[in-house]
Amino acid sequence: MKTVVVYESVWGNTAAVAHAIAEGIGADTPALTTAEATGAAMESVDLIVAGAPVFAFRLSSDKAREDIRKTPGKGAPPPDLSHPSLRSWLDALPAGSGRSAAFDTRVKGPFGKGAPTIAKALESKGYARLAEPTGFIVAGRYGPLRDGELERARAWGAELARLGG
Ligand SMILES: Cc1cc2nc3c(=O)[nH]c(=O)nc-3n(C[C@H](O)[C@H](O)[C@H](O)COP(=O)(O)O)c2cc1C
Repeated sequence: MKTVVVYESVWGNTAAVAHAIAEGIGADTPALTTAEATGAAMESVDLIVAGAPVFAFRLSSDKAREDIRKTPGKGAPPPDLSHPSLRSWLDALPAGSGRSAAFDTRVKGPFGKGAPTIAKALESKGYARLAEPTGFIVAGRYGPLRDGELERARAWGAELARLGG
């Protein structure tokens, strides 16, 4: 089963979760940025696992990233805007026939989700839902991830591998 974990990450939290999920899936599954997950890397993929941060109550967007670029916030670590938003990556993804799973990273609370939006976009491209969208929680605005979240991400990856057979 060819599996790719693809992510957008501005401060590294979603990247860390993506790598932990890929480890949990095993079998040398790559975790790729939206810049890396193109062309041959995405040919004949059986399972796409995609994740991105929640900004301004929604899945990260080009507008939210532009706001971050212009006004990163007082005391913010430098943002990494070197790879495209997952939204634009999803828009450009050619139709396929594999399966999919979606995740986001966010603070704890009722402050919006991104994973359900990712899941719908992947489904609309022909990638059937393998598992319900899920979220991983950071302790502060810029991270770090809460204790135990990387372990949970690894376990979720292992569960996806089991479900994907
Ligand atoms: C400008 C900004 C806006 C944010 N907005 C939200 C939000 O609306 N809801 C939420 O749950 N988390 C919000 N967060 C927390 C981020 O979702 C969280 O830090 C995420 O893990 C960042 O991912 P990254 O490190 O991969 O870029 C926000 C963080 C920043 C810096």
